[in-house]
Amino acid sequence: MATRSLFLLPGDGIGPEAMAEVRKIIAYMNEKEAAGFATDEGLVGGSAYDAHGQAISDADMDKAMAADAVLFGAVGGPKWDAVPYEVRPEAGLLRLRKDMELFANLRPAICYPALANSSSLKKDVIEGLDILIVRELTGGVYFGEPKEIIDLGNGQKRGIDTQVYDTYEIERISAVAFELARTRRNEVCSMEKRNVMKSGVLWNEVVTATHKARFSDVKLSHMLADAGGMQLVRWPKQFDVIVTDNLFGDMLSDIAAMLTGSLGMLPSASLGAPDAKTGKRKALYEPVHGSAPDIAGQGIANPIAMIASFAMCLRYSFNMVAEADRLEAAIATVLDKGLRTGDIMSDGCQKVSTVEMGDAILAAYAG
Ligand code: IPM
Ligand code: MG
Repeated sequence: MATRSLFLLPGDGIGPEAMAEVRKIIAYMNEKEAAGFATDEGLVGGSAYDAHGQAISDADMDKAMAADAVLFGAVGGPKWDAVPYEVRPEAGLLRLRKDMELFANLRPAICYPALANSSSLKKDVIEGLDILIVRELTGGVYFGEPKEIIDLGNGQKRGIDTQVYDTYEIERISAVAFELARTRRNEVCSMEKRNVMKSGVLWNEVVTATHKARFSDVKLSHMLADAGGMQLVRWPKQFDVIVTDNLFGDMLSDIAAMLTGSLGMLPSASLGAPDAKTGKRKALYEPVHGSAPDIAGQGIANPIAMIASFAMCLRYSFNMVAEADRLEAAIATVLDKGLRTGDIMSDGCQKVSTVEMGDAILAAYAG
């Protein structure tokens, strides 16, 4: 069995607590299923800043680049609010995305049957929900230059961010969305703001052309991103795969997350292009939730998004489809039994800690 290398970056806040539950699953799979995972661990975000004044060190970047997959917890917290912008905790995550060229961010929003009551939306709106947001992750306004605050000299300043997309960036992200749609219900909805943004006009053109040239078997529709946000809360089940840019994807995926009951439920995968020689993609897996500093260190965080992110890792980086299916089923089983962390607690359920939730999911996985 070839070694499968995993680089763990637990980060800040609830990141380490959530990661500890995944570490138990990895240990079990190594011991009982000869999975052959080799793990190494590094620092990112505020914890990296405290240790060496950077949001991620060059040495840890090298390890991330070399690993088969990176598992990422969360970064940030009030402790680092005043650190210089260049080394703020989020800069570590953005550097990982940029240097590893992780342009495709997959954010599935699945409503587990047991949680249909904990969404703020009506049950029939979200019951059975299974949508996938494909967010472009290395371009657009989060990375475009110029990006600065300039002094206008008259007592005024000007803040500038640049929204910029090239054809190839739109082409490759839409190809990922179309390919994934083929494995699902075969529908893609592309979202942009072509009514006010030139990058939106190009986005729409390139998605349409890519569809025509290579994916005409997939059903394609277009929606303005603001209307898309409205439709996501009105009737989310109309969507299968949504493909959108970095900024809109950031916002729309938070909306989609909340449809499922809690931000604590949503995993994500960030993938690069397949390597020309090995066919392998660089990959990073992270929960969509942040570091939740308000509850960090109390042992009450929901580890499900982190565990589900590891399931995505099994599926996409190691083609361990059966194990991924089993792990996802284990999460559903535990929820069916009525176990809940505080964020998804409802009447008649049993409130459990992070560790208890992790243990229960592992026990269900082990069967
Ligand atoms: C996300 C987060 C990040 C982003 C932050 C932490 C930089 O909100 O992954 O959605 O804006 O992309
Ligand atoms: Mg976000």
